[in-house]
Amino acid sequence: MSDTPQLTRRPEWTALEDHRAQFQQHLRELFAEDPSRAERYTVRVGDLRIDYSKHLITDETLALLQELATATDVSGLRDAMFRGERINVTENRAVLHTALRAPRDAVIEVDGENVVPKVHEVLDRMAGFADRVRSGEWTGHTGRRIRNVVNIGIGGSDLGPAMAYEALRAYTDRELTVRFVSNVDGADLHEATRDLDPAETLFIVASKTFTTIETITNATSARDWLVAGLGGDDKAVARHFVALSTNAEKVAAFGIDTANMFEFWDWVGGRYSYDSAIGLSLMIAIGPDRFREMLDGFRIVDDHFRNAPAEANAPLLLGLLGVWYGNFFDAQTHAVLPYSHYLSKFTAYLQQLDMESNGKSVQRDGEPVEWQTGPVVWGTPGTNGQHAYYQLLHQGTKLIPADLIGFANPVAELSGELKAQHDLLMANLFAQGQALAFGKTADEVRAEGVPEEQVPHRTFHGNHPTTTILATELTPSVLGQLIALYEHKVFVQGAIWNIDSFDQWGVELGKVLAKRVEPALTEGADVPGLDPSTAALVAAYRTLRK
Ligand code: F6P
Repeated sequence: MSDTPQLTRRPEWTALEDHRAQFQQHLRELFAEDPSRAERYTVRVGDLRIDYSKHLITDETLALLQELATATDVSGLRDAMFRGERINVTENRAVLHTALRAPRDAVIEVDGENVVPKVHEVLDRMAGFADRVRSGEWTGHTGRRIRNVVNIGIGGSDLGPAMAYEALRAYTDRELTVRFVSNVDGADLHEATRDLDPAETLFIVASKTFTTIETITNATSARDWLVAGLGGDDKAVARHFVALSTNAEKVAAFGIDTANMFEFWDWVGGRYSYDSAIGLSLMIAIGPDRFREMLDGFRIVDDHFRNAPAEANAPLLLGLLGVWYGNFFDAQTHAVLPYSHYLSKFTAYLQQLDMESNGKSVQRDGEPVEWQTGPVVWGTPGTNGQHAYYQLLHQGTKLIPADLIGFANPVAELSGELKAQHDLLMANLFAQGQALAFGKTADEVRAEGVPEEQVPHRTFHGNHPTTTILATELTPSVLGQLIALYEHKVFVQGAIWNIDSFDQWGVELGKVLAKRVEPALTEGADVPGLDPSTAALVAAYRTLRK
């Protein structure tokens, strides 16, 4: 065990506990005492305006949280990350997704080698390839132009590009059909390909390791579908399959020419990888220029995180607020509620980013943690949620901090009545933030003439904390800004909790067991070591299986 005091025994932590114990004020009181808090508790970064005034905080809370960040040396770990130090201790790797959006002339070294030229070399190759596919210059095996792009990957090799494709649909080439296959359930590939012509279809096999069983299984089935559809000629694969990976050997072993491989590196974590080669499907859809605009957006927030003073540092503030609720109010979950149809996959993407990063229960040195770590992240687009689970947010018994994300303008493509609907959409966002914070008192309900027996049911306690992120418009740059904001927020929390936010050993056991169980299902093999419940389930499956 190291000499550093345990997190919960630090004076900065116990000061926060004392502060929490005395914290009684309702948001109604906090705003009444200081109407300027809306302005004082708003931070701007790039095109994002982040209002955190509707949180259960005072200047004292913020000061104490900042002291915790200082004591836990968040900025020291941040600088080590940007310098390329091996802060992913359990895998002994650097953590350099920020190098993926560094400018061409930047110098970022890993083991004495500047990685920036490699990043731009791959980006340039991706751009060349994307342009050829988009222009029709890159043709399929039979000479037909590519009209369909199917990305096959899972986790970080799927969620990022799939989310961003959805987010930036208005910027995509509408002539191209772009789909994402991740699930090893054959239904996923079936539905993605059933109406496609193999002669016009490009498969992008995205896998950092190129060993992930779901992806390799789907890629193998896709190859069979393609070859069968093109008269059984194996040579077709070269024009219809490209790979995105760190593992050239495995790519070659799968049968994809490494000339058709776009590389990235072990210092890019899977869930931090969609601005690497993993974004190729997105780049084909939106074009290289838009992709670069997105990278510029990421960089705006990277620079801000690195340089902005602590009290105006957006990812630091958001990270600290999460610690405040998770560790001092025992909040278990965090809702992310975008008021944008285009962000329908945004929260699913954040689930991996946050929960795979900070779902840990041991510290960096292997000692168990004695405090809460990452929250359950959940949510769907806001207006739909309002008619589903917001009841619990407003009148349930749980404290659920939420992020409300909206845009001042709809995407430029919307016009007429559809454009005008945007005000109604945003009115809902503002109304929800207000209702959650301030609620409706029993006296206000009575004043409306509500019968006394109904008053408790119609009263809203309020005091539910939200952050409102208002951006100008959902552009590629703004999407990059939003993602980088959350990446660094997650980083801040991992730093404070003293966990390794960049490994994911927790997903290994299930993978190993699935491999072990599979022969019992397919061949009825006697698999030793199955517990009685699982053994009975496997037996039932075998009986019911047609
Ligand atoms: O199983 C978890 C995981 O390792 C993720 O971290 C990763 O994003 C995903 O699997 C896919 O991995 P790969 O890109 O190597 O196929």
